[in-house]
Amino acid sequence: MLEKYNARTPKSETLWKKAVTLFPGGVSHNIRDFGMPGCNSYPPYISHGQGAHIWDVDGNEYIDWWMTHYSLLLGHNDPRVKEAIIDQIEAGHHFGTPTESEVKYGEKLKEAVPVLEKMRFTSTGGESTMYAVRLARSFAKRKLVGKSLGGWHGGNDALTYHMSHPYSDDPFYNGVSFDYNNRESFDQMLKKHGKNLAAVIIEPVIGAGGGIPPEKDMLVYMREETESRDILLIFDEIITGFRLRYGTAGDGLFGAKPDLLTLGKAAAGGMPLGVYGGREDVMALAIPGAQGGRWVGGGTFSSHPLSMVAGLAVLKRLRELKDKYQWLNRMGDSFRQRLNEMLQEMRAPLIGTGYGSINFISHLTSVLSEPPKTPGQLGALFDHKKQDLFQGQLMQEGIFGYHGLGALSFVHTEEDIEKTLEGISNAVKNMSQI
Ligand SMILES: Cc1ncc(COP(=O)(O)O)c(C=O)c1O
Repeated sequence: MLEKYNARTPKSETLWKKAVTLFPGGVSHNIRDFGMPGCNSYPPYISHGQGAHIWDVDGNEYIDWWMTHYSLLLGHNDPRVKEAIIDQIEAGHHFGTPTESEVKYGEKLKEAVPVLEKMRFTSTGGESTMYAVRLARSFAKRKLVGKSLGGWHGGNDALTYHMSHPYSDDPFYNGVSFDYNNRESFDQMLKKHGKNLAAVIIEPVIGAGGGIPPEKDMLVYMREETESRDILLIFDEIITGFRLRYGTAGDGLFGAKPDLLTLGKAAAGGMPLGVYGGREDVMALAIPGAQGGRWVGGGTFSSHPLSMVAGLAVLKRLRELKDKYQWLNRMGDSFRQRLNEMLQEMRAPLIGTGYGSINFISHLTSVLSEPPKTPGQLGALFDHKKQDLFQGQLMQEGIFGYHGLGALSFVHTEEDIEKTLEGISNAVKNMSQI
């Protein structure tokens, strides 16, 4: 099936054969096999990137939609970010102490995201959501947390459950879920568990769970319903923060203010970062020794200077590009519209979902004329096996993505869009021969 891809990637094949002897599933992050083993193949090993393109160790070029787990709004190897990192390396790359860059970066984040009355930095998004939930539990003096079906908030024990259909895995502890955009499902969760819920955590636009934006006023509704029950609302903006606008999406685009929020990915342009923060009274429980507080905060690499200076350089550039977000989001929206028109014409059982620069494609078990509105609906129709085969076809077409595609950046071009649509069309035609 992937004859062309396999023939041109011998070095990747050799590396993969070694990797499977070292790492469970061959990888250090589950989805970095990019579904290729499902095509009896292996992922390409990437050696370098520039702008919106990456190259594998065999010299093959890809249009990158993956963009480092959707982190790179400025593209690979942005000169400003690179210079900031090199300057810091010259000075010493980590001291395990407070640094000036940490304070400066905190100030810039607070300017852009007023919800962050107080914040803390970690090295990963998963740590940040873990600490946000821990703080919420301490503050509310309740144990239960609610999340959406399909919601991915990192690999911590608090939130790693109900990620893929049929959502039947048991939470490690004290977790319940609901179907985002489905008010009945949300109401039922509140009715059953409201008194015990410390927090509800939600991505304003569901990422890994299907690229699903909120229905009108869904987040406002969730805000009102949680507030009236003293349940903390946490927005996980690790994908959406600084991606859809200069700042956060929950308040800035969808009109709802959370108690706590988390950031990562785009906020430091590909360097390891997590941020959690929000209401001063809740964050006060993070002060060591605070009455009623729990131990939150730690991490040898928290507020790593390389991430702080990269973050500062990224925010400076994104501030300059503030007015271009509209252009970027329009490019994503019009791409998705053309994509779905093309898939409809081809009567293909695939659907493009997303919002602005976030664009996913899901292979379904039947042809749909409209994108599913909730992660539960999408999950029930999702064809895991065919999705892997489709991913493999895209890779063969020189399009690098996951969850079907990924996210655009300020350096993607109309040519990248045209080539992607052509590649998808070829991939769909090849799929029909399987
Ligand atoms: C919405 C969301 N939250 C949290 C995380 C976890 O972040 P990290 O991979 O940095 O731990 C991710 C990562 O994909 C994410 O998409």
